[in-house]
Amino acid sequence: MRIFVAGGTGYIGSHTVLELLAGGHDVVVADDFSNSSPVVVNRLRQISGKFFPFYNIDVRDEAKLDGVFSDHKIDCVIHFAGMKSVGESVKMPLAYYADNLGATIALCRAMEKHGVSKLVFSSSATVYSSGNQMPLTEDSAVGNCANPYGWTKYMCEQILRDAAAANSGWSVALLRYFNPVGAHISGDIGEDPLGTPSNLMPYIAQTAVGRRESLNVYGDDYDTIDGTGVRDYIHIDDLAKGHVAAINHLEGKTGTSVFNLGTGKGTSVYELVRAFEKASGASVPQKVVGRREGDLPICYADASKAARELGWIAEKSIEDACADSWRWQKKNPDGYLDTIASTQVRNSLASSSCSSNSAFSGT
Ligand code: UD1
Repeated sequence: MRIFVAGGTGYIGSHTVLELLAGGHDVVVADDFSNSSPVVVNRLRQISGKFFPFYNIDVRDEAKLDGVFSDHKIDCVIHFAGMKSVGESVKMPLAYYADNLGATIALCRAMEKHGVSKLVFSSSATVYSSGNQMPLTEDSAVGNCANPYGWTKYMCEQILRDAAAANSGWSVALLRYFNPVGAHISGDIGEDPLGTPSNLMPYIAQTAVGRRESLNVYGDDYDTIDGTGVRDYIHIDDLAKGHVAAINHLEGKTGTSVFNLGTGKGTSVYELVRAFEKASGASVPQKVVGRREGDLPICYADASKAARELGWIAEKSIEDACADSWRWQKKNPDGYLDTIASTQVRNSLASSSCSSNSAFSGT
């Protein structure tokens, strides 16, 4: 299949591109590098040993998107393009609604125009309401989201359900991710958040490598195994494979389906820190600070529907994720921040036939 990957140079998008290429699919990738680096394009081509078309565009630009869909016969879209910082979404809600909903609508319009009927959407466990019992199943209550970022995922799910209902041949998979961690085994691509990380794993990795003084533990007085928050951490390679499984599942189906992509296991902050220290041999100084507003004590998936219907289960462990994150962090202590290389790649992409100068981000 030829798959259009919108937001394909972000953390989840880039790992998924590698899995798609490894699975024998052709990919056409677009991103605007608003939250990713142009260096990723070359690294993906190097790791995979395959050339693929890349477009430096904002997918909300319908004229440019139309050009991509005219250049290539697309069979399926994977939609990662969007803004994803919870804190930022509280400060700039309108930018989040405009960007995340706008990208989804533009992609659906391009699909309608060019007769593309399959789409996989990058959703999040954040769409679930806070009062649910654990583990979360796909039937747990949704809505009542804690922040605008969560609402954009919730609203995009609804837009896609409605678009699939109105276009009789469409088949859409909504993938609700739990907490993605880890990096590709090569150590050449990984998570590179802009500024100070707000998520736990990149903060631990940057503390271990000496970029941060100590980890703030957001509360040790929860009713959990050791008092710290418990989450369902899923290795990024497993998550990427979940997308390949979802694409296969869409074949011959119509309508919308929803899948949790998680491990079904909870891990506490202290357990993750200990696993990271063991995998890296580095120490991660910590200090306990107050609880972070909006945090749940425990959140983990019931991932049995994906096992049953997609034939997919998460195979890698927390230990694998820590070892892989450490390899990436050590090889790239400042992430993709290599200004000379970035500028050269950006310039060469801007002048190549498959790109234009515009902007958008990837998950
Ligand atoms: C967060 C977002 C969620 C988003 C997800 C993406 C919030 C409230 N939720 O989820 O909407 O989909 O990231 O991956 O921001 N922790 C620390 N110290 C830190 C960072 C985190 O102790 O510096 C703790 C948290 O309290 C939590 C756990 O580590 O118990 C995981 O936190 P995080 O990585 O931010 O993920 P979520 O809060 O689950």
